[in-house]
Amino acid sequence: MEYLTSHTQPSTHNPHTAVVEVQNLVYAYANQEPVLKDISFKLNAGDRVALMGATGSGKSTLLENLIGLKQPQTGKIWINGIPVEQKTLSQVRRHIGFSFQDANDQLFMPTILEDVTFGPRNYGVPPAVAIDQARQLLADFGLEAYTNRSAHELSGGQRRLAALASILALEPAILILDEPTNGLDPAWRRHLAQVLLNLPVQVMLIASHDLNWLGKVTQRALVLSGGRIPIDQEIQPLLQDGETLDRLGLPIGW
Ligand SMILES: Nc1ncnc2c1ncn2[C@@H]1O[C@H](COP(=O)(O)OP(=O)(O)OP(=O)(O)O)[C@@H](O)[C@H]1O
Ligand SMILES: [Mg+2]
Repeated sequence: MEYLTSHTQPSTHNPHTAVVEVQNLVYAYANQEPVLKDISFKLNAGDRVALMGATGSGKSTLLENLIGLKQPQTGKIWINGIPVEQKTLSQVRRHIGFSFQDANDQLFMPTILEDVTFGPRNYGVPPAVAIDQARQLLADFGLEAYTNRSAHELSGGQRRLAALASILALEPAILILDEPTNGLDPAWRRHLAQVLLNLPVQVMLIASHDLNWLGKVTQRALVLSGGRIPIDQEIQPLLQDGETLDRLGLPIGW
């Protein structure tokens, strides 16, 4: 009678002790063959994980399943032991900071200062505290002169940085980033790597085509291919294995 067991209250009987656990997930867009055919993995406390895979392999689709923006046809996801379901979404999302592949999906307030204070204020942080913290984060990303501009008045890279600031403002335990280096120059890519390496998060999962950068920020790689994860291993030896990467549609150095 597994389906009668409540997983909503983590307890000593809850077997799902990983920070993120995905079991036999299948996801298809309407009237299409499944993009994700059978996905299972666990992320444990301290894991910094790269999600790799060719264009169109389903990385963004998988990440959107993890935060409940898309519902799998079959399979289950647990975040800190809580099953991701309609009724647990607000609880689950409190643990997660998620950045969309398209930063425009993240920024919707009249100014980026308001974008960055939006989440914390929603969670009850006093306005003055939220504003101080937001100014600090925006300054860390070189945006102090732009706090009162709207996102559409920023460059692509600046929008990306503002979107990341809005996520970090929530001080999430689990950080899930979709192509965070898109639009960033090498100096900002390096700075972002340093920021991420210093964050006290429980788990980081980063989808990116920026293999070299992933090698500096993460320790473990999941590779999506054919709707499955045929590779789950340490990232460094994988980055040295040009033949395997080529076979998975990820030629290194291009
Ligand atoms: N809204 C949608 N409706 C139908 N099919 C979609 C939709 N969004 C994505 N797809 C398809 O699902 C597959 C996976 O897309 P997804 O965006 O998850 O890939 P990705 O690995 O993130 O790619 P990229 O590296 O380009 O970001 C692609 O074949 C894509 O065409
Ligand atoms: Mg994507």
